Amino acid sequence: MIKQNTIEQIMATVKVEEVIEDFVSLKRRGVNMIGNCPFHDEKTPSFTVSPAKNIYKCFGCGKAGDSVRFMMDHDAMSYPESLRYLANKYNIEIEETVNTAEELAVKEVTTSYYIINEFAQSYFNNSLFNTNEGKSVGLSYFKDRGYNESIIKKFGLGFTTSDKNDFTKTAISKQYNIEFLKKLGLTSQYDNDFFRSRVMFTIHNLSGKVIAFAGRTLSQDKKTPKYINSPETDIYNKRKVLYGLYFAKQSIRKEDECIMVEGYTDVITLHQYGVDNAVASSGTSLTVEQINLVKRYTPNIKIIYDGDAAGVKAALRGLDLVLEQDMNVRLVMLPDGEDPDSYLKKVGIEEFRKYLKEKEQDFLFFKTNLLLAEAGDDPIRKSKVLKDIVQSIAKIPDNIKKQLYIQKCSTMMGISEEILIGETNKVIKANQKQQHFRNKRDQPNHVDDSTFLNQKTQPYGTQIGPAKQVVTGDDYQEKDVLRILISHGNLPLKDDSEMLVCAFIIDSVKDEIQHFDNELVKTMFTMAIEQFNANGKIDINAFTSSNDEQVRLLAIDFLADPYIYASWEEKGLQFQTQKDPENNQEKDAIQSIKRFLFRKQGKRIDQLEIKIKELSVTPGSELDLIRYIKAYRIVQTQRTKMAEELGSVFLK
Ligand code: GTP
Ligand code: MN
Repeated sequence: MIKQNTIEQIMATVKVEEVIEDFVSLKRRGVNMIGNCPFHDEKTPSFTVSPAKNIYKCFGCGKAGDSVRFMMDHDAMSYPESLRYLANKYNIEIEETVNTAEELAVKEVTTSYYIINEFAQSYFNNSLFNTNEGKSVGLSYFKDRGYNESIIKKFGLGFTTSDKNDFTKTAISKQYNIEFLKKLGLTSQYDNDFFRSRVMFTIHNLSGKVIAFAGRTLSQDKKTPKYINSPETDIYNKRKVLYGLYFAKQSIRKEDECIMVEGYTDVITLHQYGVDNAVASSGTSLTVEQINLVKRYTPNIKIIYDGDAAGVKAALRGLDLVLEQDMNVRLVMLPDGEDPDSYLKKVGIEEFRKYLKEKEQDFLFFKTNLLLAEAGDDPIRKSKVLKDIVQSIAKIPDNIKKQLYIQKCSTMMGISEEILIGETNKVIKANQKQQHFRNKRDQPNHVDDSTFLNQKTQPYGTQIGPAKQVVTGDDYQEKDVLRILISHGNLPLKDDSEMLVCAFIIDSVKDEIQHFDNELVKTMFTMAIEQFNANGKIDINAFTSSNDEQVRLLAIDFLADPYIYASWEEKGLQFQTQKDPENNQEKDAIQSIKRFLFRKQGKRIDQLEIKIKELSVTPGSELDLIRYIKAYRIVQTQRTKMAEELGSVFLK
């Protein structure tokens, strides 16, 4: 584990704008910087970075956080991965706590796996180049396929001879653990070599470590499987791997596109010809995990299908999940009987690139065309097509995109836009209902945020933005006090005062903590009180870096008030006679707390009234009744006074 003081050092060093600028181009706008949000599709920038507060927030989609969070979301890193990335960027040395025995054991096993795979790879590579069988069979096969030596070395290609167990014997003589060899699928249960008489493809993880192998037979025998693969292990989960991604990732980012092909050989050929943003899902149909891997680098996927691919239609169904991830998917069908490998070799790189450009089709239009052609004039089949397409459109998170698709598909299908919108709405509503029940089950505090369905005002799509909290009772007042606590808590109450805003707020509000209506606000107040008791101030980072998404988003909401961004800075207005809200903390705090306490008193009065009514019909409770009436009068007087101070605006 990374030591706490290292984490603190990282947090104190990183500059959010420097971290983000590696991925998003930012322009200055007042004290902030803005750019196009990397998390959703947008034309006008609403992604705002505050160097002063060291946070970012997108006013379009609601994503927000600090540098650590940015890397976690943008590159799908885990928390420690993100910290390591940042430490590396800023040359901070990472100190780690000593691992537990259990952690060490797990680490030892995975380290051993990597070492053994590395050994196997070099063994297979040696067999390819330095054995007679390897040279005459394996190497000549690769040469026939057109691979040059440098691409063979780069991709770690290899060969396994027909020998029964030479690899296993060599590995054991080098003290490699036989159990590990078996777990990795390199050695069979009878202690023989698993891969025999095959050309070998090495599968790497994102950092270039060898995690698995695929072996292709060269035999024409139909009974021999064409490819055999390593089994899944702690270091190899085939759903989470894209073949070639380690070599392709930089180019994918640069080209802002990922080319997806079917096989190992296609990837290698494409890379050799300089199309080095190509990867393969290798046999399996595309998984969500694989899409998310690509999404780290680009939202654009181009899938190349073999001309004779029978399964294209089935594959299309699976592609809806790519839409759901808000990726742009284009398809290219190769001419009959060709795969990328054969076609590229046939026509050469320039023709090939031209073909990809000319023949690429948007996935949904492709699907619509294909299904429509199949349906012909049959009205029942046509209505099935409509249902199918609408299902796909409903999955697109981005509203503008949704709108474009509806327009185009309406023309393609000869169906009015209104009908398509209506049908899409039905699907979205059904999906939302499902989601609503799921939310309700997981999180009793969540409301259904459905805003679709109103075709006049908001015809397309779900509202973008963070889920809203239920507004009940004193929610507004509680949040407002918390807003001031977080946005101005560590500032002095008055310009020359020793007292901090947080001290004043916490002192005024702490007795009410049990009576908070909003659980999230209550949690955050409790955090603040603990921080204040420990350090005499509050720790803003603890909120903006919180792993609890609700805590983080609300805190950043307070710090990145759109009102402050938009109206004070964008217009460049400087109010000479009036302090800007950033510096009006005393008045702000006092007003807000008064409103808050006013509401809480109101509640108390309600409770007292109920109690008094109860007691007045309960025989023998006269003394209690008198006590309650006295209390009632005191609170009433206080409240009237407060109401006068606050002005009638707040009287309800
Ligand atoms: P040719 O195109 O005939 O030269 O062969 P290839 O080596 O390019 O393989 P092919 O185009 O037939 O298959 C494409 C991809 O499908 C391969 O890269 C594999 O990922 C997968 N595949 C094909 N056959 C098998 C098989 O028998 N088992 C497994 N697991 N995957 C296979
Ligand atoms: Mn092939």
